[in-house]
Amino acid sequence: MNHTLVQGAYIVAGLLFILALNGLSKHESARMGNRYGIAGMAIALTATVVAAVAGPTTDGGPGSQGSGLTGLALIVPAMAVAAVIGITLARRVEMTGMPELIAMLHSFVGLAAVLVGWNSSFEKNVVYPTVHDVEVFIGIFIGAVTLTGSVVAYLKLSAKIRSAPLVLPAHNALNLALVAAMFVMTAVYCLTSRDAEFTRQLLLAGMTLMALFLGWHLVTSIGGGDMPVVVSMLNSYSGWAAAAAGFLLGNDLLIITGALVGSSGAYLSYIMCTAMNRSFLSVIAGGFGVEAGSAAVESDYGEHREITADDAAELLAEAASVIITPGYGMATAQAQHAVADLTKTLRARGVDVRFGIHPVAGRLPGHMNVLLAEAKVPYDIVQEMDEINDDFSVTDVVLVIGANDTVNPAAIDQPGSPIAGMPVLQVWEAKEVIAFKRSLATGYAGVQNPLFFKDNTQMLFGDAKHRVEDILRAL
Ligand code: TAP
Repeated sequence: MNHTLVQGAYIVAGLLFILALNGLSKHESARMGNRYGIAGMAIALTATVVAAVAGPTTDGGPGSQGSGLTGLALIVPAMAVAAVIGITLARRVEMTGMPELIAMLHSFVGLAAVLVGWNSSFEKNVVYPTVHDVEVFIGIFIGAVTLTGSVVAYLKLSAKIRSAPLVLPAHNALNLALVAAMFVMTAVYCLTSRDAEFTRQLLLAGMTLMALFLGWHLVTSIGGGDMPVVVSMLNSYSGWAAAAAGFLLGNDLLIITGALVGSSGAYLSYIMCTAMNRSFLSVIAGGFGVEAGSAAVESDYGEHREITADDAAELLAEAASVIITPGYGMATAQAQHAVADLTKTLRARGVDVRFGIHPVAGRLPGHMNVLLAEAKVPYDIVQEMDEINDDFSVTDVVLVIGANDTVNPAAIDQPGSPIAGMPVLQVWEAKEVIAFKRSLATGYAGVQNPLFFKDNTQMLFGDAKHRVEDILRAL
């Protein structure tokens, strides 16, 4: 395929990816953003495959490493297998399993960058050997950190390992030492003669193992409640890993796409750090979960009160203002449609109903917004935590639907708590609070919630969807 045509296709794909990111930043344009992304990826894949198959070009551009029909014979089966796996996973995954899937996908990007880096390290005829060596080292380093970091994130998010932070002695110094060692090894690698192949491979293998350990250590030392920032950080790392692979493969589009993912992931992490009152630098250093304290203390908060669905309906019927704060339990119960029906019913009776969304409610950024949009809750009554937090004190009833950590007062009044300092929805300021959950169990961060024992809180136990439906019937 003509080099200019391939470059043209890459530019169009790059622009479509930028439009996709822009579209995905708002509810209203998210679908369109997704379509731009799909179109961009279709163009990018077609151009890359055609260029690879078209055979060598003389200009060194995309397609210069083309391998004709042999390439096609390798690419098509690989793409077919990948497509079957991708489609099967995407069809099967529940909304609640998305973060785990995303973490797993990040690990594939990391693995790909490690493999591309190792493959490139065997290249003999490189134009700028030192630049190439640095690219190999950086590509493998970021890829390996992303790989193990994402696997640990996957295991924590799917509750296959404990989400509590594992804090090794001097863990920050250890991380810094590993990064410093990487720089030293890069310099030694670049200075070692290319004839000393074994020494160079030994250095590369040592660095790969070190980076794999660093990825594991960075994420394993993060506390449960702080995982959202880690997931977006790994998203960013996977972008930089892809960009590094782009440099090694001489593929401009991979560099552009990787940089887009890397920078948007970093910006998302920054937004989440600000929302969670955490230090951005501390997250990158992997000490993030520990700075607020790591011991979840069991306390006796006294007796809780319970309410029936009929009494909850009565309370709602008399209320003038209601705020609903959904959390992960609404997702697991798939209660969003029942909640939307309840909202419609109450609004038809003249009740002022709004939603208060915590930035890390659920298990992925925007989780609650997606569920509420799916149930067709009007966007204008869905408000962010900062917009609504001052209004709880003038609200009659708050319905806490499957939320726990995001409405936990311990974040404010218990400095030793693992979630200390994290801003939360101050639902307890309202006149009445009804908490929908199945038991008094802790939330994701494993911290007891004193909200459930406050005088103005009543527990409505059971599956959130069933209880909301009971209230609807009673109304
Ligand atoms: P959580 O603190 O996770 O609590 C959810 C509550 O829902 C649980 O206490 C559970 O109590 C209840 N629940 C589960 N299934 C239910 C059902 N079928 N019906 C009714 N209740 C049910 O939720 P949250 O307030 O949304 O906080 C999110 C947490 O996840 C934060 O710690 C956050 O840091 C973390 N996290 C977030 C993300 C992102 S990006 N959003 C990513 C990773 C981790 P019972 O078992 O008693 O029912």
